[in-house]
Amino acid sequence: MSRLARTQSIADLRALAKAKIPRMVFDYIDGGAEDEVTLRRSVSAYDDYELQWHALRDVAEIDLSTTIMGQNTPLPFLITPTAANRLFHPRHGELATARAAAKSDLIYSCSTIASQTVEVIAAANPGPKWVQVYVWNDRKIVEDFLIRAKEAGFTGCILTVDVPVAGKRERDPRNYFSVPPKISLPLIRQVLARPGWLADFLTSSSITAANFTEFETDQDIMGFIDSQFSKSVSWDDAAWIKDIWGDRFAVKGISRAEDAERCVEIGADAVWVSNHGGRQLDTSVPTIDLLPEIASAVAGRADIILDGGVRRGSHIAKALALGATGIAIGRAWLYGLGAGGEAGVARAIDILEDELRRTMALLGVTKIADLTPDLIRRRGTTP
Ligand code: FNR
Ligand code: LAC
Repeated sequence: MSRLARTQSIADLRALAKAKIPRMVFDYIDGGAEDEVTLRRSVSAYDDYELQWHALRDVAEIDLSTTIMGQNTPLPFLITPTAANRLFHPRHGELATARAAAKSDLIYSCSTIASQTVEVIAAANPGPKWVQVYVWNDRKIVEDFLIRAKEAGFTGCILTVDVPVAGKRERDPRNYFSVPPKISLPLIRQVLARPGWLADFLTSSSITAANFTEFETDQDIMGFIDSQFSKSVSWDDAAWIKDIWGDRFAVKGISRAEDAERCVEIGADAVWVSNHGGRQLDTSVPTIDLLPEIASAVAGRADIILDGGVRRGSHIAKALALGATGIAIGRAWLYGLGAGGEAGVARAIDILEDELRRTMALLGVTKIADLTPDLIRRRGTTP
């Protein structure tokens, strides 16, 4: 049995990815901002929510299907947008993930700074797919990109709002990280130690922001963000993007109840609670801790998507029970991509699905709507 087939958990996929891809790209996935406090706590915070099951319930049939932003989906989780996937799998990058998502009929989302074009991704993924945008200094570029994405078949738009400036990711400059990677002297040893990745890297095209070839990306991704994306994006821009898109629309990177209210006011279909996986403002609140106050502010007027720190099916169950409509996963599938391309992403999806199904059976519930707050007790409190 292959090492990939023997992985039992997302932590196993992480270990395998670490063994397969050079440290500079592994650290770009794995790392966070500054002291990485939010990164760590975003995972460990789920442990503060303890589960109380119902005994003697018939759990022979479990249905994981639900609807997120009007999109029916067989599983309550989706692929969160992440940049430049060819760093982690130089030959296929986004295509590996888009194909794995389509095979499970999962909602796929594509980053503004994907390393494959929206047209090529759409050709590889006949399933439901959404596109994420950062706002360029030149607003016309955003408009043109959204028109292209729509024509390619994307049916949802995600505006990410937690990157007015790049977070301070200290692993990247320490690792001489750049996009495309430059195999300079200090990196030779680590890339030679990962021959599979290196062979793919040397025999495939340069890794760029494929949808915007007119821009040089010969710098670290965060430098690219600071130079190309607007620092003055406002709620008016959000409303403008929602209008020009004219279809499902989510605002990603919400951390406060009053901002969730503003999302509802501008007519967003989903409030996406996220701190960018601890990559932006360090010591910001883990998303699972924000969920109850945001769910109460939204009060059913929009869907709530949550991401951050999801590494177990039980994490998904807890976030759904505390008020999320759908859960977006990031590093969980990125580790899979680094560990084994399309098969690795499929493995990540299977692990999370199996764990979620098992958690629900053990909780005594059979459908997503049965995941309610009474199943959860905050550690150290009494009901
Ligand atoms: C991201 N994220 C992200 N978000 C976004 O809106 N656009 C992007 O281009 C990226 N790029 C990106 C790259 C990498 C390597 C990572 C790990 C993350 C953030 C992502 O969508 C999501 O918010 C977090 O990944 C969620 O946290 P977990 O699941 O990784 O813990
Ligand atoms: C990141 C940016 C690109 O998190 O969103 O790396």
